Amino acid sequence: MKINNNTIFSCTNCDAQYTKWAGRCLECGKWGTIMETKKEAPKSQHENAQNYAPIKTSGLDEIESKKAERMKTNIEEFDRVLGGGLVKGSLILLGGEPGIGKSTLALQLAAIIPDTIYLSGEESIEQIKLRAERLDIKSSGLQVGNATHIENIIATIRQKEPLPKLAIIDSIQTLFSEEVEGEAGNINQVRACTVKLMELAKHSGVIIVLIGQVTKDGSVAGPKTLEHLVDAVLYLEGDKYHQYRILRTAKNRFGSTDEVGVFSMEAHGLQEVKNPSEAFLSGRGEAVPGSTITCLIEGSRPVLVEIQALVTKTNFGYPQRRVSGFDLNRLQVLIGVLTRRAGLPLDSYDVFLNVVGGLEAGEPAADLAVMLALASGLKNKTLPQNIASFGEVGLGGEIRPVSHTEKRLNEIKKMGFEFAVIPQTKNLPQIAGLKIAPVKNVKELVERIVEK
Ligand code: TYD
Ligand code: MG
Repeated sequence: MKINNNTIFSCTNCDAQYTKWAGRCLECGKWGTIMETKKEAPKSQHENAQNYAPIKTSGLDEIESKKAERMKTNIEEFDRVLGGGLVKGSLILLGGEPGIGKSTLALQLAAIIPDTIYLSGEESIEQIKLRAERLDIKSSGLQVGNATHIENIIATIRQKEPLPKLAIIDSIQTLFSEEVEGEAGNINQVRACTVKLMELAKHSGVIIVLIGQVTKDGSVAGPKTLEHLVDAVLYLEGDKYHQYRILRTAKNRFGSTDEVGVFSMEAHGLQEVKNPSEAFLSGRGEAVPGSTITCLIEGSRPVLVEIQALVTKTNFGYPQRRVSGFDLNRLQVLIGVLTRRAGLPLDSYDVFLNVVGGLEAGEPAADLAVMLALASGLKNKTLPQNIASFGEVGLGGEIRPVSHTEKRLNEIKKMGFEFAVIPQTKNLPQIAGLKIAPVKNVKELVERIVEK
């Protein structure tokens, strides 16, 4: 069969490309979205070069160096994540699952920065007013409006006198441009509207915060596809049913991407959590078997969290393993190591593992505490309340050092723990007022810490 190279078929919803037409897109599953697009036969490079004027380039030394102009928001956790405040003329994408608190955070920002305009396609202005009342926001010159039409939005912002300092657009999924085909939310619309907003930010100097929904299955037309189009991408994460929210940077043209901000969702909106360890340990009850504390590094800050394991005899069939805030595969591996290297019969027990507070313990440093929690849960023996631990566990059962040892130990000390169980190394760190219990492998860990 001869394939005609000048014709391709692409999906207007997800941009997948095909050589043949089909009724249903194989990528996104939508019906009737595949359209024919013609490719122009490419001209020769030589022919093309004569039609265009060359651009002017400058020597690096001739360019005046300009520092990005930043505006502080007074929400310290937010400023830190951005690398020191909002940069003039930047486009920031604020992503997160529905209901996580994006509109709340945006409205709180809007209330702080004078001359802000908040345009929503998600809620009516009455709903925004209700939220503002809940957040205790007094007028503060904030302008709100309903809009979904991007050309209108741009006209509104451009024609304001004076120009707003900050514009919040809620959300990218509701925007549409009349210059682009397709309904709001499809990939072409989402891209075109984002590009237009980027242009607006760059030309007018207005800071634009664009809200985008991400769904659990990582929907196609979500923030993921926009990351390369904007200056910074922030994700508000957390568990809807827990109070804590973490603000992370996935991309930042004006700063680093490893800072995180911690917030707690209260009746009056998002509050900054200045001391995350204290917050995550605050609900800790009486000592129970299977519970222990570890120290994670979130961004550049150490955070203490509680790890809980519930270990119960398997009644029939295959033992169950369930996790919340921890990687299931990693748990399987750790269970395997504990069974084989320390001789604990976990293969006939169900295991449920939980990282308290809705935090995600993705670091290998959490391994050691998970081992302790599992062994303590299995043996039904409570661990001392005054210990915290961290370290990576290898397949041989060996316990390996992790990064930021001193930082973690200082945090453990600061939060009032007396003992730190850490990997055995040549030069053990010394922290005044904190006793260090070094361990070489999981067998020793179980014998010395759990069984003693
Ligand atoms: P919202 O900002 O609407 O989420 P998103 O824009 O990300 O979809 O916040 C939704 C949740 O936050 C909602 O379930 C109610 C809760 N909430 C509070 O707990 N306190 C508050 O002050 C506000 C405004 C919302
Ligand atoms: Mg919202």
